[in-house]
Amino acid sequence: MKINDFVDFLCCPDCKGTIGIDGENLICMNCKRTFRVYYGICVDMLPSKKFRRSAKTELERKSITVYNKLFDEPFTWKDNPSPWGLVVPKNYINKLQKHKHMVYSLIPNRINRFIDISAGSGRFSIELANRSEVCFLCDISVDSAIYLTGLVLKEKIENVLVVRCDYTSLPFKSDVFDFCLCNDTLIYGPDHEKNVLLSIYEISKKGGSCVLDFSNKYHRGFWHKPYTYGYSKRQMIDMLLNTGFKIDVCLPLYYEFAHDIEEKKFITKLINLVVPPTRYVFRVVK
Ligand SMILES: C[S@@+](CC[C@H](N)C(=O)[O-])C[C@H]1O[C@@H](n2cnc3c(N)ncnc32)[C@H](O)[C@@H]1O
Repeated sequence: MKINDFVDFLCCPDCKGTIGIDGENLICMNCKRTFRVYYGICVDMLPSKKFRRSAKTELERKSITVYNKLFDEPFTWKDNPSPWGLVVPKNYINKLQKHKHMVYSLIPNRINRFIDISAGSGRFSIELANRSEVCFLCDISVDSAIYLTGLVLKEKIENVLVVRCDYTSLPFKSDVFDFCLCNDTLIYGPDHEKNVLLSIYEISKKGGSCVLDFSNKYHRGFWHKPYTYGYSKRQMIDMLLNTGFKIDVCLPLYYEFAHDIEEKKFITKLINLVVPPTRYVFRVVK
């Protein structure tokens, strides 16, 4: 696939105008802003202005500082990009496998139009390209965009467009995607979560689904340092329903039982009854 094959799904992140081809780059046919394309498969489509949200807590203030830094970084090519999730601590490998197993159990075998709105290193989504007709891997981070572009070129994956964008002002038309992944991202505060969910809802097709997760505040309260936001299951469900989604599946994810991937052991089942899950993974439908 070439950049032309992806253009129909895109729109201007500023004015929502139609996107056209301008030589090797893209252009908004309405406001005439141009968007640089790299290696024919990666496009920089950040909005012109940052998204403003309120910060009521220290955690929210910190996450806004990180966002500002990611947003302000100029798109300069680098040799050793280090996206989120590329390096995994040894004691997290089992947990990651378990998390992936659970997320994948909710993903359709064939997807027409697929998007990961915060792909990081693509550790949850790069394999999904071969289940999809068209695949968009998105992230605000320059390191992510460069890393994912390198990966796609190296693996000769033909149907992926890497998009550097902001998930609060996505450069995609409404009602486009059959399946959206949003993993480990609804963690920066209620106002942030609300806006991300509204963005996902907007670009999803009617009947399209999305797999997303939240951290469980009761798990964190026990033995985790709270460096991101966690919610009660009720709060998670309310956020999803208030956005307009229908809840299809809700799975508790226990990192503690990472060694028992299918949770078949008796002891796992027993402990599950008393230990709060680390996260809840949802499949929701528009
Ligand atoms: C905690 S990481 C999760 C990455 C990936 N989903 C995973 O599970 O490995 C959150 C990702 O969201 C990206 N991100 C943060 N703010 C963003 C924004 N406003 N728009 C798009 N991506 C953003 C970060 O760069 C980072 O890669």
